[in-house]
Amino acid sequence: MNLDNKAREILRQNDKGGYTLPTHGLYPYQWNWDSAFAAWGFATFDLPRAWDEFDTLFASQWDTGMVPHIIFHEPDPGYFPGPDVWATGQSPETSGITQPPVAATLARQVWEMDKTAGQNRLAKLYPKMVAWHRWWHHVRCIHGPAAITHPWESGRDNCPDWDIGMAGVDGSGVGDYTRRDTGHVDPSMRPTKAEYDRYIAMVQFGVSVGWDQSRIVADGPFLMADPGITFILLRAHEDLIVLGDALGEDTTEIAGWARSLRAALPQIWNPDLKAYDARNLRDGQFAGVLGSGAFLAYLADAGNPDLNAQLARVWDAVQYGIPSADPQSPMFDPRKYWRGPTWPVVNALMAIGLRDSGRSDLEARLRRETAQLIQKHGFFEYFDPIDSTPCGGDDFTWTAAIWLTWAGNDLEQAKGAA
Ligand code: GLC
Repeated sequence: MNLDNKAREILRQNDKGGYTLPTHGLYPYQWNWDSAFAAWGFATFDLPRAWDEFDTLFASQWDTGMVPHIIFHEPDPGYFPGPDVWATGQSPETSGITQPPVAATLARQVWEMDKTAGQNRLAKLYPKMVAWHRWWHHVRCIHGPAAITHPWESGRDNCPDWDIGMAGVDGSGVGDYTRRDTGHVDPSMRPTKAEYDRYIAMVQFGVSVGWDQSRIVADGPFLMADPGITFILLRAHEDLIVLGDALGEDTTEIAGWARSLRAALPQIWNPDLKAYDARNLRDGQFAGVLGSGAFLAYLADAGNPDLNAQLARVWDAVQYGIPSADPQSPMFDPRKYWRGPTWPVVNALMAIGLRDSGRSDLEARLRRETAQLIQKHGFFEYFDPIDSTPCGGDDFTWTAAIWLTWAGNDLEQAKGAA
């Protein structure tokens, strides 16, 4: 089957009617940033369905403005930790943490495909996106850069960036539980039991304070500045301003959030590493590891010559796309979840920034390498960046979406060949 058709088929198959699963089995619910990518993919052949996806995501927005990372629409015993563990009391039930705020950036991409048709849909969504960004600013940017309270909020779940923060989390008292992820995919590619115990300890802390964000930020077991989310949020603020202006809204408040976030970027620049770096906000310590979060700087037009040199080094050390961790670091593992592999969605986000800042040479290379992975193996969750081995779940929504919106562009021959 032609790859465009296959990608559309995957989106349709993972469509649960208004919301889309990342993939069947491994991820049986609606995930926050996956949904925004799904919307972008749907927009290439069904614009109303794209807007529906944003609507179902934001229908579960909390009163605080936070948009949760998972929405548990239907019970599914194949996933852990499920709604009983999160115990957030929302309806439908949700997790108690958030995920990278790519929605405004991707809503802008969708709206630009047909501004007239999208105007009403955008007008309904806009105040909800503003409320979410306001939450980020007031709750999570109080130290300057965007902070996360659980590695899963970063979307780059167990990248080495979080190791120093994770070291301070006590996972010894979490009790017995059965993981489900290792039953769906190769356990050697997934986080370890010790890491998982700590993830659950952080969830249990959230439950113990009734998911009160001020207590989680002030006293929770984990608080780190995330370069990836900082750049995603900064870019999203700027996209939200464009959307607000088009709707005739007053965007002064958002412009203030964007200015203060950009002013905070020096706080996550590690001069020793010569790169942006995650930082433990409890003690100021830098993570000291270079990963794909730092390279999302290009999405927010925050690159510089030192970072360009790092990008060239890291990228040239692999064959396919941007690795999630530095291939020349001892922590690098090309198939282990977020500790080395390349993610087509992260490549796509970087590409938006490279394209917008006129780096079409780099954008084209990234697109070509990402396309090669999908052409060789199909729509997997992520890939080994050295030998292209497909990893994680198959028939993945966001990989299909970025094929339709970006990676598959200008590859007419390749499409026909598959
Ligand atoms: C994993 C990823 C996360 C993603 C989710 C669903 O947890 O790390 O980024 O949202 O899977 O695809």
